[in-house]
Amino acid sequence: MRRKTDFLVIGTGVAGLSYALKVAEHGNVVVVAKSTIDEGSTKYAQGGIAAVMYSPDTYEKHIIDTLVAGDSLCNEKIVRITITESSERVKELVEWGTRFDTNLDGTFKLGKEGGHSENRVLHRKDQTGKEIERALVEQVRTHNNITLLENHFAVDLITQHHLGIEIPPLDDKIECYGAYLMDIKTGKIETVLSKITLLATGGVGNVYESTTNPIIATGDGIAMAYRAGALIENMEFIQFHPTALYSTTEKPAFLITEALRGYGARLKNHKGEYFMKNYDERADLAPRDIVARAIDLEMKNSGKYFVWLDTTVLDKNGLIENFPGIYARCLSVGIDITKEMIPVRPTAHYSCGGIKVDEYSKTNIKNLYASGEVASTGLHGANRLASNSLLEALVFSHRAYIDSLAKFKSIYFKDDIPDWNDEGTVLNEEMILIIQSLKEVQSIMSNYVGIVRSNLRLNRALNRLELINIETEDLFNKSVLNFELCELRNVINVAYLIINMAINRKENRGLHYSIDYVK
Ligand code: FAD
Ligand code: SIN
Repeated sequence: MRRKTDFLVIGTGVAGLSYALKVAEHGNVVVVAKSTIDEGSTKYAQGGIAAVMYSPDTYEKHIIDTLVAGDSLCNEKIVRITITESSERVKELVEWGTRFDTNLDGTFKLGKEGGHSENRVLHRKDQTGKEIERALVEQVRTHNNITLLENHFAVDLITQHHLGIEIPPLDDKIECYGAYLMDIKTGKIETVLSKITLLATGGVGNVYESTTNPIIATGDGIAMAYRAGALIENMEFIQFHPTALYSTTEKPAFLITEALRGYGARLKNHKGEYFMKNYDERADLAPRDIVARAIDLEMKNSGKYFVWLDTTVLDKNGLIENFPGIYARCLSVGIDITKEMIPVRPTAHYSCGGIKVDEYSKTNIKNLYASGEVASTGLHGANRLASNSLLEALVFSHRAYIDSLAKFKSIYFKDDIPDWNDEGTVLNEEMILIIQSLKEVQSIMSNYVGIVRSNLRLNRALNRLELINIETEDLFNKSVLNFELCELRNVINVAYLIINMAINRKENRGLHYSIDYVK
């Protein structure tokens, strides 16, 4: 099957849907989700969205907090663009129907998280992402110009490579003509030709054993773009959220929002000490890389697999009123957070790097844009400031919209693109090969490429990954595709990028910390 569309949007989180709603006013749009429309990290966002709304907060304060958290690796121009456009983008979200918590006088209630010098996080209790996604999905479902393809898996971007023309990676002559999509229910692969393609495929958390990310977060967009010749950067900066609820079985790991520490909860070790003041003067509200490393060390020193988050000192009614999701989830596993401390540990959470884009979300591949967690805009540098990612997605999807609007009418479809060719492949009935390889990659990444790294561990990881890669490419070339095999291939691609970029960063910076370097 073949389709043609002005705009192809791969991903239905905040980045994809906010872009789709805007371009749909000007052309037809195909929007793709590999699962249901609302399944992605956006729905799980808890703390909220950082934006400058009222004094005493100022753009300048938010800019400085972002630069400090990013450990001198942010692109200051991009930081300024993102933050000065924050209030406008938040207003738009409200116009689309998002309901943030407000005070009695109608002003927004603003929470605080690690690294922020002011209260500036708009939220809907502890379920902000669910509310944002609800509002966007409602708008998208009723838009006449949008065709929604759920349970469709983007396998690869279409470029000159599919016409038999080889152009070296990173070359600015590479063009994107759309994507091959697999209907997960039938296994059939269709060709979607588009004038403009936006990758909004979210994060990479499932490269690790334990992550706050939903299972769809397998780095597909980054892997597809890399294979197509896009520039990928900063993949060594994987953010581990300091406080996921400790569990040996739960997938995804349940997040305990940093806003709870903003509200007064404090980390305690197994000796009963509030230990964060020993690591940083900002104590429990230091930037995430510092808190996650401190917890990691406390866990290693005590030999335990978690530390405690003490919520028992907080007002009981306020706790239940402001954090109903966390209260209910903890209660469901036997913890009453008004009386008992929460066992927490750091867990893979966010990819600061990704597909390199410019200030209009353009990649180095013509007619291909990227926005949201899949993109590397330069905002986060070596460590993302809490609650800056929903904001980044909105700002850069808007900028992609501005740029693509000016172009799409002068772009023509490439009609000679061949359909997907699976001649000579056979049905692979051995799912165990795929499942076991995925577990091996996740184990390698968790044990050798985690919060604390070393050159020895990184090189071990690379050697082990190489064998799994050879086996998987062999399987891929021989098999009729299924999406699990495509995901495994993507996870391997992304793991490879993380390890290589970690090996090449010969210093400690932000989220990349190696015992081999002093700074
Ligand atoms: P997502 O919302 O993850 O959506 C990805 C989309 O891509 C999905 O629709 C998926 O189906 C689709 N997709 C992926 N691969 C394919 C494929 N191969 N084919 C077709 N479709 C595909 N950030 C904040 O700013 N504030 C917070 O409070 C906050 N809390 C968080 C809490 C949790 C538990 C998590 C996991 C993250 C949190 N973050 C927070 C980070 C933030 O939620 C994400 O970075 C952001 O939502 C990503 O949005 P996105 O649109 O880029 O991707
Ligand atoms: C949280 O609520 O702690 C997560 C916020 C974020 O990842 O930005």
